[in-house]
Amino acid sequence: ELGEFAHHMRKEYWEQPASAARALKGRLEERFGTARLDGLNLDARAKRAIRRVKILGCGSSYYVGQMGAQMIEELARIPADAEPASEFRYRNPIIDPETLYVAVSQSGETADTLFAIDEIKRKGGQVVGLVNVVGSSIARACDGGIYLHAGPEVAVASTKALTNMALSFGLLALDLGRIRDLSIADAKRIIDGLQAIPGQIDEILRQEDRIAEVAKPLSASASLFFVGRVRGFPVAREGAQKFKEVSYCHAEAYQSSELKHGPLALISAQLPTVAIVPDDELVQRNVGALHEIAARGGPLVAITHAGVDLSGLTAERIDVPKNEVELDPILLTIPTQLLAYHAALALGHDIDKPRNLAKSVTVE
Ligand code: BG6
Repeated sequence: ELGEFAHHMRKEYWEQPASAARALKGRLEERFGTARLDGLNLDARAKRAIRRVKILGCGSSYYVGQMGAQMIEELARIPADAEPASEFRYRNPIIDPETLYVAVSQSGETADTLFAIDEIKRKGGQVVGLVNVVGSSIARACDGGIYLHAGPEVAVASTKALTNMALSFGLLALDLGRIRDLSIADAKRIIDGLQAIPGQIDEILRQEDRIAEVAKPLSASASLFFVGRVRGFPVAREGAQKFKEVSYCHAEAYQSSELKHGPLALISAQLPTVAIVPDDELVQRNVGALHEIAARGGPLVAITHAGVDLSGLTAERIDVPKNEVELDPILLTIPTQLLAYHAALALGHDIDKPRNLAKSVTVE
C-alpha cells in the first residue's frame, strides 16, 4: 500500500494536494461569500450568540488549534484561544454558555480530549469537533462538527490531517466572520485563497530535493530553535514538535519577539534556527531578529516568501507560494514536515513509529 514511498509519513504529505481539496469540497458558497458547514448544527442565531471560542486538542492538534484561534480572531473578531486538552481537563475549568468549545482530533480517540469534552458537557457547555475519523468517540461526543476528510493517516507524525484541521479552521472563521463584520470582498479574498491552497501545497512538495538538502545539516545538531511571531508562532511550534517527534533532536519553538529577552544567550554556530518569515506587516521586525541571530554566528534557515529581502544574511531560504496573510500559516507549515522527515531519514530512524510515541493515546 506504500507504493513508491518508503514511509507512510512521506506518502501522506504527498497526498495533501488531494486531501486538502477534499476538506473544501462542497463547503464554499462563492455567491454569498461564506462557508457551508451544516454539520456544526448551529443556526445563524446560535453562531451570533458566541462570545468566545476555546479550542482544545493535544500535541499537533493543539498547535493547529493556536493557528485556528488566530484565524477566528482575525476574520470573525471573536476572542479565541487554544489550550492543551490534557491541561484543561484537570483544572476545574470555568464553562461559559456563550463560549463555543472546539475539540480537535485526528483519531477522535485521544483520552485527554475526550475527557475535556465530557467536562464541558457535564457543565452545560457546547462543543463542536474537528475530527478525521468518522464515527469516532470524539465525533460522537460532540454536538456537531466538521469532518476533516483527510483519509486514513498511518504515520504517528500527523501531516495531512493537520493541514485539513487548519483549512477547517479557515472555513469556520469565514462562516463566523460572515455573520458578523467580515465584508463580502474580504470573504471572497479568503475563498480564493482557500481554493488556491491544494495547488500551492503541490508547488512546495516539488521542492522536496532541496528541502532534503537543507534538512541534512540540521539533523546533525543536538539542538535547534524554531522561531516565528504572531501568525508564524504556531507554525514554529508545530515545526519544532514534528522535528522532535521523528528526528529526536531537541527543538524548541520561541517567539522571535522574545529572543532578546533570554534565548539569544544560547545562539552559537552549533545551534541552528529555522525561522518562519512571512511577507506580512511584521516582516521587517522578523528580518531584524534574523540579523540578531546571524550576528552571533547562528546558522539560519528561513521559511519565507519570494518577496522577502534577506540580503546581507547568510541563510538557506525555502520560499513558499504567497496566499492571503491569514492563510499563509497553512502553507508555511508544509516545509517543516519535509524538514523533519528528511532529518529523520538522514539519521536512519523508524519514521512512521517514533520511539516512545503512539498514534493515538487512548489511555490516561
Ligand atoms: C499523540 C500523537 O500523542 O496524539 C500526536 O503522537 C498527535 O501525533 C496527538 O498530534 C493528538 O492526536 P489526535 O488523534 O487527537 O489528533
